[in-house]
Amino acid sequence: YTAHLDANDLGKGTYPYYMAKEIDEQPAVMRKIIQNYQNEQGELEMDPEILDSILASDRIYIVACGTSYNAGWVGKQLLEKTTNIPTEVHLSSEFGYNMPLLTEKPFFIFLSQSGETADSRQVLVQVNEMGYPSLTLTNVPGSTLSREAQFTLLLYAGPEIAVASTKAYTAQIAVMSILAELTAKAKGLPVEMDVAHELAIVASAIESVIDDKEIFEQLSLTHLSTSRNAFYIGRGIDYYLVMEASLKLKEVSYVQTEGFAAGELKHGTIALIEDNTPVISIITDKKTAGHTRGNAHEVISRGAHSMIISMDGLNQPEDAYVLPKVHELLTPLVSVIPTQLIAYYTSLHRGNDVDKPRNLAKSVTVE
Ligand code: G6P
Repeated sequence: YTAHLDANDLGKGTYPYYMAKEIDEQPAVMRKIIQNYQNEQGELEMDPEILDSILASDRIYIVACGTSYNAGWVGKQLLEKTTNIPTEVHLSSEFGYNMPLLTEKPFFIFLSQSGETADSRQVLVQVNEMGYPSLTLTNVPGSTLSREAQFTLLLYAGPEIAVASTKAYTAQIAVMSILAELTAKAKGLPVEMDVAHELAIVASAIESVIDDKEIFEQLSLTHLSTSRNAFYIGRGIDYYLVMEASLKLKEVSYVQTEGFAAGELKHGTIALIEDNTPVISIITDKKTAGHTRGNAHEVISRGAHSMIISMDGLNQPEDAYVLPKVHELLTPLVSVIPTQLIAYYTSLHRGNDVDKPRNLAKSVTVE
């Protein structure tokens, strides 16, 4: 009897938890995605029927749950900026029972690491009944959402075992960036970026942030391992990112965490700031960097412990960490890494079961 082993069957290897391993795998996942979507000439390519179907539509509806939903917001930004097709993002559990007025020619994108989430499937069933085109982005070939949607794009992230999703988030964004570029090309629009090249830069940038993991372990030990609550703030693409950053921290560490649009702080949330409340600001968007930094200063003056994570070029000496620069539409692929590491270390140092947080399941197959 010969066992068919591949690297993924070897479990955690030397890692104490799958989450740590899966965070580390992200540079390799980026490279694998580029390879898998390249043809023999080294050009990015995918089923032209998918692109034709998107081009025939007047609006894209992204439908997902949890971390996949958060990736959907980054996808919206990518698709709208690159293809000029209006794109909406919806929670599956809301969309199915409170469907918005649809345009004449909707195109549906289901984001699902597992391809088995019941809330998303019930929407797909309705979409199929209505006869609209659909595409599933999933990590699992042959999964329910993949079989039932008209088209599938695979994430090539390898099995994700930790309940808290990390590499599937970055894989979903990377695949959507390729989809956006190829759709724009098929539409005859000028190319926003050379995606394969930019994703290769992202892979190296992720590597260098991971090399600095001790910095994030120290930040979480000093400021998060004993705090009751925490906030992430950002604007624009950084707002989309902090929604995921806060979900990651709360789900594995049990620290009550919210992610806010930085400009909304003054309309309510700032009332929650007390002495030493951790507030992490993400700054990668040039247009709003000054405003978000201003918000960070407002919380400092109310006693918060501020940690600013900024992108190279937008940084100031006060910042806790400076991210390597990548294309402005791809910054979440890099800015998410410190937030994953902060979540991991906070959970670890609080003595939680990092891979199996209480009350959560990897794949939720009931509505
Ligand atoms: C569960 C998992 C989350 C995941 C969500 C959606 O709640 O704990 O990590 O983001 O389901 O899963 P999917 O497989 O559809 O991406």
